[in-house]
Amino acid sequence: MIHAAELIRRKRDGEELAADEITELVLGYTRGEVPDYQMAAFCMAVYFRRLNGAETFALTDAMIRSGDTIALGAAIGRKVVDKHSTGGVGDKTSLAVGPIVAAAGVPFGKMSGRGLGHTGGTLDKLESIPGFRVELSIDEFLAQVRDLGLAIIGQSANLVPADKLLYGLRDVTATVDNVSLIAASIMSKKIAAGADAIVLDVKVGDGAFMKTIEDARELAETMLELGRHAGREVACVLTDMDQPLGHAVGNALEIRETIATLRGEGPRDFTELVLAASAHLLAFSDLELDEDAGRQRAERTVQDGSALAMYERWIAAQGGDPSEDALPSAPVVREVTAGTDGFVRSIGAVDVGLAALRLGAGRRTKDDDIDHAVGILCLKKRGDSVAAGEVLAEVHARDDDTAERAVAEVCAAYDIGDEAPGARPIVLETIA
Ligand code: URA
Repeated sequence: MIHAAELIRRKRDGEELAADEITELVLGYTRGEVPDYQMAAFCMAVYFRRLNGAETFALTDAMIRSGDTIALGAAIGRKVVDKHSTGGVGDKTSLAVGPIVAAAGVPFGKMSGRGLGHTGGTLDKLESIPGFRVELSIDEFLAQVRDLGLAIIGQSANLVPADKLLYGLRDVTATVDNVSLIAASIMSKKIAAGADAIVLDVKVGDGAFMKTIEDARELAETMLELGRHAGREVACVLTDMDQPLGHAVGNALEIRETIATLRGEGPRDFTELVLAASAHLLAFSDLELDEDAGRQRAERTVQDGSALAMYERWIAAQGGDPSEDALPSAPVVREVTAGTDGFVRSIGAVDVGLAALRLGAGRRTKDDDIDHAVGILCLKKRGDSVAAGEVLAEVHARDDDTAERAVAEVCAAYDIGDEAPGARPIVLETIA
């Protein structure tokens, strides 16, 4: 018998809950014995009163126990690595990191999610590739990681079912942005999916859940601790999400940017993040490289074409057409131009993400359809100098009306001033 009301009251009053109480609540909720309204009240109590380390671990553990787990390394017979981002605008990092790491000889197996709100999802980006299958069975997933060295698929239905329910509930009850709830949500999925070593990209800034470096640090340290508890090697990179990552925001546009990056022709910030994350993953691998050697190995896969070749084999293995020409293109392309001379001081990441969403690149509710062709190219980035009339960005739209609105929104997202802002690296800090 679960006394949900009693547990909610005690958490509301700031008491610490025992691990078995949290387990009962989470497993009871997953079985449908605790209703949404009680779980929503519990999440709100957690939002205001927080969970301590032991409670956060108990929550994560209970979420993992709500469904299946995969012993990825044991099934493959090698150390398998994975990466995860807390979500941002234009974040296609996994799509480039996967082929680089696999081309360097390290198995990369990842389960990804869909986008909601202003942040895009890796699965949605992959689905802009004609024929690409994100729904492989676990056996197909394991076979592909073993044989090819790379698979990225949708999360299997019975992997952390508690998170599917809880995330949906948190999304509509203003309880997403709590460190313990985010850390438990991310780490339960990463631990259940079975990789031995994980690089976590914790986004910081306007377009991220974590608006300040202090909050991002707290989230990173909480996730590191949960990973260590579960016997996984974890490193966190805290990265800038004050402006969109790279140029492209929108599904097929981001796939094009991924291909360019694997060819060595990617935007500076995105290329740097991809190589930094790849270097960490290669340093975690069984190749016995340190981070510098991992970085060199990652760079070599781009220079010698093996990363791009791996990308093409991976896409084909999951049924997709890897050629760039196969990707959908938007019928209407409009330029956003600068009104004055100056420097780009900032580009509101959320504003650009929302403009892309309204073009149809994202979804407002989880049942919305996505238009894979549309999106925005932010050609000028923070610190770039611009002349009046010069092109800042391109809007790729389905029709004239949505294009016009997006042009106005993207124009408003750009802040142009007389002085160049101070330089800010893409990787702000690494915590390992
Ligand atoms: N991403 C997740 O998977 N869970 C959260 O709670 C937030 C971001």
